[in-house]
Amino acid sequence: MSSYEKIYQSWKNNPQDFWQEAAREIHWFKECEEVLDETNAPLYQWFKGAKTNTCYNAIDRHVIAGQGDRTALIYDSAMTGQVRKYTYAEMQDHISKFAGVLNAKGVKKGDRVLLYMPMIPEAVIAMLACARIGAIHTVVFGGFASNELAKRIIDAEPKIIVSATCGLEPGRVIAYKPLLDEALAISKSTAKTIIVKRPECDAELIDGRDFYWEKLMKVATPVDCLELEATDPLYILYTSGTTGTPKGIVRDNGGHLVAMNWSMKNVYAMSPGDVYWAASDIGWVVGHSYIVYAPLVRGCTTILYEGKPVGTPDAGAFWRVIADHKVNALFVAPTAIRAIKREDPRGEFLNNYDISAFRTLFLAGERADPDTVKWSEKMVSVPVIDHWWQTETSWSICANFMGIEHLLVKYGSPSVPSPGYDVRIFSDEGEELGPKKLGNIVVKEPLPPGGMLGIWKDNQRCIETYFKEYPGFYLTGDAGHKDEDGYLYIMGRTDDVINVAGHRLSTGSMEEVLSNMPDVAECAVVGVADELKGQIPYGFIVLKSGTEKSQDDIITEAIQSVRTEIGAVASFKNAVIVKRLPKTRSGKILRRVMSSIAGKEDYKTPATLDDPMILDEISAALFS
Ligand code: COA
Ligand code: AMP
Repeated sequence: MSSYEKIYQSWKNNPQDFWQEAAREIHWFKECEEVLDETNAPLYQWFKGAKTNTCYNAIDRHVIAGQGDRTALIYDSAMTGQVRKYTYAEMQDHISKFAGVLNAKGVKKGDRVLLYMPMIPEAVIAMLACARIGAIHTVVFGGFASNELAKRIIDAEPKIIVSATCGLEPGRVIAYKPLLDEALAISKSTAKTIIVKRPECDAELIDGRDFYWEKLMKVATPVDCLELEATDPLYILYTSGTTGTPKGIVRDNGGHLVAMNWSMKNVYAMSPGDVYWAASDIGWVVGHSYIVYAPLVRGCTTILYEGKPVGTPDAGAFWRVIADHKVNALFVAPTAIRAIKREDPRGEFLNNYDISAFRTLFLAGERADPDTVKWSEKMVSVPVIDHWWQTETSWSICANFMGIEHLLVKYGSPSVPSPGYDVRIFSDEGEELGPKKLGNIVVKEPLPPGGMLGIWKDNQRCIETYFKEYPGFYLTGDAGHKDEDGYLYIMGRTDDVINVAGHRLSTGSMEEVLSNMPDVAECAVVGVADELKGQIPYGFIVLKSGTEKSQDDIITEAIQSVRTEIGAVASFKNAVIVKRLPKTRSGKILRRVMSSIAGKEDYKTPATLDDPMILDEISAALFS
């Protein structure tokens, strides 16, 4: 048996002992009474009865252990040229003060604090300050527009919103405050705001409602970590599902801590003091888990990078950061590598940098296509590891465990299941499928530590979405197959979620925007294969009869509406007017066929299509 197989088997033989052992590396104010509480199955709870604090584990305990001078966070902004380093002791100072600011504004355990922030250190400080006092943070990605922000404000009902005067995108400054003001107006929220002032942009503050971060911090009284239940919520993170209403995935403190520490050690092979860089955004789960929590819990140095892989200033940006900060491991979405490869196919920028500290490149967030993996291997001459996971799980369902053993890499596969995950492939009828048979990927209950506690305010939706289809199993929403060696292959989503440049987006929410346009009778948005971004959304619009506007004007309006209502991140830049949508006889829109036609892929005409001629019409609308 390989080392991986031994460890996987030891988990399978006794899951609770396995996680109890892993939990020894976490500081508990009080040990748990029960490792796994099954009372609310399928919504299980880990380490019930234990008391802990995530901020204490990420920051304070390292300072207490004498590591206060170690660098905890390096902020590297390719947008401004600034680099700022924070030791663990400095982080403790800022976090405890900001926790004091929140307390002084009336924030107590269980209250929600929403963050709408660019990639600046104050964002990490605010997240950890919430964790310190048991406030539940909910970070909203800066690329979302007011309407999406408002949806999250309405659902989470935050007492405080932390934001900044602006975010920086190549060639433009994005003023956040007007977007936030609009979201507050839409949501009718009475939340107060705390705004980080950036030199690139000012903001208009409303007296008594909006406050500058710097001013509050000057008079703040630091506060200590609160002892929390392991099962208390740490954060809510909204993610896309089939409908336009985002799902607020709720994460606990105790299980999450154990999962973060275990994965940092065993998946990423990181030891305390190592430098780890997840080139994502704090608005996504990758940012939560691997920019903020896992590296700090493990005592590593984490990099907070504000910039892009290309154009800030060039395709050597990532190699520059790795060289400057002696990065040991980088975690990035394949799309970023494709962007670098497109601009610098021979990797000439690499010659300018010494990346000898670099040990491993990790890829996730979307399918890692074999070309991208092979090109990366050639460039960086270190193992390139694909791994697969989701917002719902907070860490990898499948991986190649660099801290255990470097298993054979099979291109196109994120390798094998992590301990904690018993992964199966089921047919639509619920029959378990053998090797090489494509089906729905499911995980046997319970999800391991780190798995979601539920959906905020709607556990019924959680059960219906994830646990109802195949009783006893968690439905991942991904389709794929296994090979004879147990390697998994992820082939795409089974729902209406698309993955654009590593960003998980709902076509349902884009359809909602288009449907609200006065001239639109019916519409569908599908994901179409794209060489750089993996997928891009494509809109198909049927007009109401008698519409007077030109087709071009309607398409321009559609593109602008999605950008204004959802945000630039949707990358909605393609739409076409069609006479009708292809549907089954029972009225179901055939999105997959439309996606194949638009992506110029082969497809089979579905037997259930009500009128096969319609596919020719779609083709003609797209390509003539
Ligand atoms: N705030 C405001 N706007 C934002 C934003 C933010 N935080 N992030 C992105 N946007 C905007 C971009 O400026 C862009 O606007 P544009 O249409 O006016 O050009 C749009 O949203 C789409 O952004 P993006 O998908 O990032 O595309 P891009 O063309 O700017 O860059 C890549 C392409 C591949 C370089 C980029 O997507 C990338 O680095 N991806 C990495 C993916 C990643 O980190 N995923 C996280 C999960 S692991
Ligand atoms: P998110 O919840 O935003 O992290 O997105 C999760 C989804 O991204 C998964 O359900 C997959 O569809 C996709 N995904 C993430 N990692 C991978 C991977 N390594 N290979 C294929 N798809 C992936």
